[in-house]
Amino acid sequence: MGFKLKLSARIILGIESSCDDTAAAIVSYENGNSKILSSVVVNQNTLHEKYGGVVPEIAARAHAERVDTVVKNSFKEAKLSLENVDLIGVTAGPGLIGGVVAGVMCAKGLAYGSNLPLVGVNHLAGHALTPRLTENIEYPYLILLASGGHCQFIQVECANKFSRIGGTIDDAPGEAFDKTARLLGLEQPGGPSIEKASINGNSGRFDFPRPLLNRNDCDMSFSGLKTAISRSLKDLDTQQGGLYEHDVKDFAASFQAAISDVLVEKSKRAIVEVRKKISDLKTFAIVGGVAANQKIRSNLLSLCNGLEINFTAPPLELCTDNAAMIAHAAGELYDLGQEDDYTLSPRSRWPLDEKKPPMLGSGKRGAKA
Ligand code: KG4
Ligand code: ZN
Repeated sequence: MGFKLKLSARIILGIESSCDDTAAAIVSYENGNSKILSSVVVNQNTLHEKYGGVVPEIAARAHAERVDTVVKNSFKEAKLSLENVDLIGVTAGPGLIGGVVAGVMCAKGLAYGSNLPLVGVNHLAGHALTPRLTENIEYPYLILLASGGHCQFIQVECANKFSRIGGTIDDAPGEAFDKTARLLGLEQPGGPSIEKASINGNSGRFDFPRPLLNRNDCDMSFSGLKTAISRSLKDLDTQQGGLYEHDVKDFAASFQAAISDVLVEKSKRAIVEVRKKISDLKTFAIVGGVAANQKIRSNLLSLCNGLEINFTAPPLELCTDNAAMIAHAAGELYDLGQEDDYTLSPRSRWPLDEKKPPMLGSGKRGAKA
């Protein structure tokens, strides 16, 4: 890459607690290079397992109980202390409000106690800016943000300017992975277990719908997929009196292929659309939890090779929720002049592109941002 990212804060603490991961990270910037000195993520999978989804009250309590220790551990891992930090960044939304409150209160306390500047970060901006943390990608670029609560194509102009090109009108793809895994009796989160189950599966066995492909826009829909799978499962159960291991693998592979086809086709349209305005658009990236999926990554890479655009996806541990992305976004926002005071308020809804009307649906984070 031809440019080096220079941030005025040299060492940044990030805190994230907007869904079901409590995370803290320390990121340093030196000579235009970023380095993740620590990134601690404690998930709540076992707490929510028996309820079949994230229970907001349980999540909030767990964040409040764990956030201090997670921050302490991020310092221990980085071999640093609060005195070494120049800036504190914290997710201030969108998300499950109780969890966001826990993170914001912790960050305010630390900022007050140490007299450090505080920056409230939009969780989605954290995902959207990850390609700049890991690869110094230059603005503007286009992302597909695909996670458990969101699915949007976003043109990223700078750290606080985003235009939505399209998105899901109902479920998010990560949510579809999670629900389908539940139907198949696979463990949560569904994305990794479906990906694993699909490895030796036949992706052509079940022809699941590819919704909205006939519409010439960048919007997507994933809720019908779950119904189609549930129907096929019932049919097979009636026919053969249960599911065999190879059936589960075939279901997983066929489902993953349907999701991937929709994401690839709509990504193609989004790239074409954005190129009408920015003819030299250089980079397309997938970010968010679903970006961890190898099949989807490799299919998007082929698409981008064909369209002659640079493709990037974060390393796996920075696809799913983490606090390094929050630290980085805080650093960029601070340089744009953002500094929050102790009135910083957590927001459950906080769209990246506030000018566009909200999209429908509600994911595991509640109403879609
Ligand atoms: O970004 P993230 O950690 O949290 C949200 O902001 O929602 O994304 C979590 C979502 C989950 O729904 C999970 O099933 C999905 O990302 N996910 C995956 C994979 N790893 C995580 N989906 C598909 N393939 C994966 N390997
Ligand atoms: Zn996320």
